[in-house]
Amino acid sequence: MSEKIAEDIHSHLCKFIVPFTKTALGSVGASLNVIDEGNTYKATITLGYPSGRSGKELIEQLTAFCASIDLDKAVNFVVDWSVTSHSVQHGLKPLDGISNVIAVASGKGGVGKSTVTVNLALALAQEGARIGILDADIYGPSQPRMLGLLGSRPETADGKTLEPIEAHGVKAMSIGFLVYERQPMAWRGPMVTSALNQMIGDTHWGELDYLVVDMPPGTGDIQLTLSQRVPVSGALIVTTPQDVSLADARKGLEMFQKVNVPILGVIENMSSHICSNCGHEERIFGYAGGEKLAAEYDVPFLGAIPLDFSIRKNTDEGTPTVVAEPNTPIATSYRQIALLASGQLAASGKDYSRLFPTITVEEDK
Ligand SMILES: Nc1ncnc2c1ncn2[C@@H]1O[C@H](COP(=O)(O)OP(=O)(O)O)[C@@H](O)[C@H]1O
Ligand SMILES: [Mg+2]
Repeated sequence: MSEKIAEDIHSHLCKFIVPFTKTALGSVGASLNVIDEGNTYKATITLGYPSGRSGKELIEQLTAFCASIDLDKAVNFVVDWSVTSHSVQHGLKPLDGISNVIAVASGKGGVGKSTVTVNLALALAQEGARIGILDADIYGPSQPRMLGLLGSRPETADGKTLEPIEAHGVKAMSIGFLVYERQPMAWRGPMVTSALNQMIGDTHWGELDYLVVDMPPGTGDIQLTLSQRVPVSGALIVTTPQDVSLADARKGLEMFQKVNVPILGVIENMSSHICSNCGHEERIFGYAGGEKLAAEYDVPFLGAIPLDFSIRKNTDEGTPTVVAEPNTPIATSYRQIALLASGQLAASGKDYSRLFPTITVEEDK
């Protein structure tokens, strides 16, 4: 009897739509196991994206979902997760120890790409993921300031590899750690490419679930090199709602599509402004441009972040919003977007670990 019910629970749960992958629990991007443990049933769910924090909410949703089936005893849910390495551009190999590189790109500068990058990276770290941030904006590095690391210098044990600098639980590398902030950087293309290669390859990242790359704005040679030579599992496109920014975002998006890097989604930044005095909401930069862009290319729209004084203030002070004010609606929006992005990647189904057979070693009887 109980075994039959365990099977019923399993087949019922297989239909549950996982909030951040948008796929059924029984399909790609997650796995499920239900066993009868005597006094209770135990349902173990393994997600392909980090859920150390969001898992609790998921358990509530799963419990509610099971209310419609006849049970003779309670179901205990265990939510586990494991990030695997997803496929990269043809001809490239994933970086050693780094499961996935996620590039955050925009067409234009000043749309808030670095701010989005740092908040998403920190949100994933809060879920338990091992995160690195690579500030690839050679001409205008902003991660040192946003992470509160201005003036920090990376150590090197052997004169060749660099130790990343840690802040708020993430590891970071930026050209800003290697040159002084006000020093003008008149670098030619090849120098930039080699500096980037060094920061990626010669940084002692250790094991990472995600290396989030804050790309330079635009779609010039440097960006092209990055999109073609760095093994990227997925790209995020940041835009503001207005047309000029969208036109540039299109170019950024197409640059990744050309090299078959999946677009994990579009994020609209500075979406609306809520007056801190009167609460009036104003669409300063237009309306729903990010959503339209996502629809045009048939890629996910991951969410919108308002234009808000606190976002600028928090990043300028070196403590981005998800860390400084974790319980605000803005931090919640960043977390949702981060989970949707990593969920998209998990659901992309292109998973290296699945290419290898599962090897079980049986003990001699
Ligand atoms: N949603 C937002 N609300 C308010 N200020 C923002 C927001 N997003 C970014 N900013 C501010 O706008 C400026 C540009 O953002 P930044 O992330 O550096 O853009 P980019 O990397 O695209 O050049 C920064 O001063 C940043 O603090
Ligand atoms: Mg920037």
